[in-house]
Parts: sequence; structure tokens; C-alpha cells
Amino acid sequence: MRIFLDTANIAQIRQGVKWGVVAGVTTNPTLVASEGLKDYKSVVQEICAIVDGPVSAEVTVEGVDAMLAQGRDIAKWHENVVVKIPATAEGLEVTAKLAAEGIKVNMTLCFSANQALLAALAGAAFVSPFVGRLDDIGQDGMALVKEIMDIYKEYDFDTEVIAASIRHPMHCTAAAKAGSDIATVPFKVLEQMMKHPLTDAGNARFLADWRRVSGQS
Ligand code: G3P
Repeated sequence: MRIFLDTANIAQIRQGVKWGVVAGVTTNPTLVASEGLKDYKSVVQEICAIVDGPVSAEVTVEGVDAMLAQGRDIAKWHENVVVKIPATAEGLEVTAKLAAEGIKVNMTLCFSANQALLAALAGAAFVSPFVGRLDDIGQDGMALVKEIMDIYKEYDFDTEVIAASIRHPMHCTAAAKAGSDIATVPFKVLEQMMKHPLTDAGNARFLADWRRVSGQS
């Protein structure tokens, strides 16, 4: 499973890339707005200059024609840009048309196996089941990821699954066990994935013991 960062925060992306584990980035209008940034295009282009991998940027308009026009424009921002389109009926039409033009689409806001099936049939490069938001309403978000993986394997679809709306490190482990192609995670969750108190305590003890016998303390 690859890890994407789910953020529009440039400093977080720079740090994640330094750790050598960030293979892509996903953004959405909420994430960009939360950085107080206005120009979506320049933010996405800056991210593309930092990360050598897919960078998702979402359409911010409604209606087939408007989404198509904006999707085509977003696709020109950088060769690694993936256009995020909502998993609606209109979004399906837009996805099919963009995919036919060779534009990579990430169908987002996916909450059912049928939406994911249709996303694959329409030619989406990625589909993003929102795990945390399903958990929030008392449904098992990770069960949806497993269901989609089963269906995609059964029919050999090329569409890659991005476990999204990840809220904590256990979601990452569960997504990996479910066979998800990618998990897109907030920076805080990426930090939590590597953190373990026994590692920190053990490391502090090793260093203290070494300082003692080597006369450094
Ligand atoms: O990747 C989708 C993500 O940005 C949504 O996360 O936590 O707002 O449900 P959340």
C-alpha cells in the first residue's frame, strides 16, 4: 500500500517527502481553504514541484459542462495532476468523458460499492471511499474498502483504491490489511504511524547507557 498525504499544507508535504514515504497528495477545496490560500492552481503546482507522484485537485463547480471545462483546465496545471470529481450521476458522465480524453480522474466522496463499481466502469484512475465519514454515521468504513477491493479483483479493474477520510493510525493498518492500493492520510496520522512510546523509551535508554560507559555523561 502506498501512502499519500491528505493536505494542502506545503510544510507538511515537504516533511513527509523527506521521510521518503509520501507517494502522492490529495487535496480538496476544504483542505485548501483551511490553509487560508486563495489560488488553488498555484498551490497545486507548488505541491507538484515537491512530490513526484499523483496530486489530486478537486473541481469546485456543479453541472456536467462546468465540471468538464474545469476538469480539462485542472488537468493542464501539471502532468501529475489528477482531477477529483464527486461520485454523482453528473460526476460519472464527466469522469467517462475526461477518461476518454486520457485525463486521470479520482472519483471522490465514494460511500458505496456500487459507486465504486460505476467509477471503474467509467474509467476512473482512482476511487476514494471515505472511511472516517462512514464510521461517523455508525457504518463500517473499512468494510467498504474491503468490498471494493473484492469487486475490483473479481473483474480485474485497473482503478486504484484510495482509502480516504483516514482519521487515526488503526485506519492505516486496516486499509493495508484490506489490500487498499493507497491510503491518503492527514500529516498528524503519518506522524502517529511511526510513533511508539517503547521505541522512544528504548532509544533513550540505549543512548543513556552508551553515554555512561563511554564517559560522555
Ligand atoms: O481524503 C478525504 C478527506 O479529505 C476527507 O477527510 O476527515 O474530512 O472526512 P475528512
